[in-house]
Parts: sequence; C-alpha cells; structure tokens
Amino acid sequence: MKRSNKAVQVLQDLQSADGFVSGADLARRLGVSRTAIWKLLENLRAEGITIESRPGLGYRFRRAADRVSAPRILAGLNTKWLGHEVLSHQVVDSTNQGAKDLAAHGDGGHGTLIVAERQTAGRGRLGRPWQAPQGRALLFSLLLRPRLAPGAVFGLTMAASVCLARTIQETTGVAALVKWPNDVFAEGKKLAGILTEFSAFPDVINYAVVGIGLNVNQTGNDLSRLDQPATSLRQLTGRRLDRVWFLGEYLSRLEGALEAVERGDLDALKADYDRLSLVLGRRVRVTGVMAPVTGRAVALAADGTLILEAGGRKIEVNCGDVSLRLDSDPD
Ligand code: ATP
Ligand code: BTN
Repeated sequence: MKRSNKAVQVLQDLQSADGFVSGADLARRLGVSRTAIWKLLENLRAEGITIESRPGLGYRFRRAADRVSAPRILAGLNTKWLGHEVLSHQVVDSTNQGAKDLAAHGDGGHGTLIVAERQTAGRGRLGRPWQAPQGRALLFSLLLRPRLAPGAVFGLTMAASVCLARTIQETTGVAALVKWPNDVFAEGKKLAGILTEFSAFPDVINYAVVGIGLNVNQTGNDLSRLDQPATSLRQLTGRRLDRVWFLGEYLSRLEGALEAVERGDLDALKADYDRLSLVLGRRVRVTGVMAPVTGRAVALAADGTLILEAGGRKIEVNCGDVSLRLDSDPD
C-alpha cells in the first residue's frame, strides 16, 4: 500500500477532524464517489480501525486496534520517502526474506517497508533465530537502493542502530545503547537486533535490506523463553507502547541518517555511534573465526571494524563473523 492510497487519505482526514466528517465532504476532498468512500471505510474497518457512523453527521475516527497495519502506518508517517510503500503481514517467514524476494523480482522502491505481526523464520546474524510472539514486537525490514559501495554498507547498520537507540531514549527515556556491531541493549540486556543484508555487483550494491526486531510489549514470560538475557520497552518503562507510533518516530529520525550515509557524510553519525556505544572503553571478549580474544575496545571504525587493545597490541576485528560479549558476561 502506498502513501497516496485513498484509504490512507480517508484515515488521515478522519484522524485530523475534530468531530464527524460527512461522506459527501470526504468524497469531494478525495475526488471519488460516496460509494467508493463507503468501500474505503470498510477496508479500514477490516484493518481493525473503528470508525463510527451517524446518520446525518457522517463518520468519526474512534480508535485503532494494536496492529501494525499499512493504513495506520502510512497515515501517521512524517517522512519524505522512507516507508512510503508498505507491505504489512499477519505472518511471514522473515521480513528480511520478504524484502529480498521483492528486490529479486525487481519490485519495491527505495524505502519500502515490510512489517509483520509474527515471523515463522525470523533470523539474526549467522543464521541464528529471532523469536517474538505475535503482535507484541516490532518486526520490520527496509528495502533500500542507495548508491553505495559494498564497503560502505556498514553505514546503514550504523544509521539504523544509532537512530534506534536515539528514538528509544527520546520517546521513552530508556538509556538504550548500541552493542557493536548490530544490537541495542538496555540495562545490560538485549532489546533489539539489526540484520543488514545486501546484494552487490562487484563495486556497487544492487540493494540492501535492513531488518529490525525490537522488543516492545513482550512480558517477562515471553522474554524468559529466549536463550540470552533480553528485555522489552514494556519491561523497562512499565507501560505498553503503541508500536505504530514508535515506528513513525523511528523512521522520521532514520530518513536523514540514511541520506547522510548515501552522501558519505558520516561524521555526525559516527560521533553518535561512539557516544552511544556500550562497548567502547570496556573489556570485551570476541569469538568467531579467529581464536577468542579478550581486550579493551578502543575504537570503532565507520566500516564496522572494532579495534581492540590486547597485550599491548592493537587488533582489528571485522564485524562479519564474530560475536562479542562484555568480559564480565558469562559465556
Ligand atoms: P552477536 O551479535 O554478538 O554475535 P548475538 O548472540 O546477539 O551476538 P545475533 O545473531 O546478533 O547474536 O542475534 C541472534 C540471537 O539473539 C539469538 O541467538 C538469541 O540468543 C537472541 N534473540 C532471539 N530473539 C530475541 C529477542 N526477541 N530479543 C532478544 N534477543 C533475542
Ligand atoms: C540480530 O540480533 O542478529 C539481528 C536480529 C534481526 C531480527 C529482525 S526481525 C525483522 C527482520 N526479519 C528477520 O528475519 N530478521 C530481522
């Protein structure tokens, strides 16, 4: 569904009105028949949006169910291009896979958003599973088609993680931090993960998919099923959060950061990445392709390289195939 879709315009009109809006006014503003308006209202109702109708007065927006539906997302969006095309699913294997499939068929413009209430094969890095119960998390992917060299793709992960931590801090007050290379943590527990995948010709990318799983309204019981300490915004704030509203706040911050990455203008983003880093200055243990290394994280490079100081030597660690734990963490 696109931002210019008529159902989205009806919803925007109703949400911005003080009281009832007549069917005739809606029809005139959208340039469609009253029968068409009636059908659009039925479509919105099918998405869990309650619209009251009163004979002689018209229609009034009442409330929207807690669903990540395309019309709700589009009606609240405050971006120039990001998320203007939305595919919302009740169930999908993986929103990242959905975005890659779209791209493989030549579909989905720059900034297309794929969002789901549940994933049957949600994944993290290195094929690890991402698990979240139906309707409580934000599970989405952005299909991006920036002009970028493969070596610059980490900028997208950096933008996604920095903006996610900033949005969380600014909207909830939770002190979210970025755990290199692709997680967001709060109170020492994992709150969100970011999976960036891309397809490249030799020296330019064809497309990139940035997938984000954020624990929003999961309960302690939901989170206790995971195999590493995890938390949710609900646990951290004691309140349920409107996922669609949060998503809009996030996309409006992310858009400019993605534009900066495409321009190669990384200074401000990199400064935020350092400022919001959970690992910089801390002792960490890295495992993966090489023998495990324990050292102090002394620098992060914009291409995703972590610089460790261990035994008086500087070691460069590429984010590709390694896992990192704070040295105080149990294995
Ligand atoms: P690293 O990123 O350092 O390699 P990681 O263990 O976080 O380590 P990822 O591939 O980033 O690995 O993320 C996948 C892991 O995240 C899963 O193996 C699981 O431990 C954890 N996980 C899965 N679902 C969730 C969730 N909803 N919230 C928090 N953590 C989760
Ligand atoms: C990680 O921590 O390794 C990244 C986890 C990314 C999970 C999200 S959920 C939405 C999108 N679809 C997926 O299959 N993965 C990402």
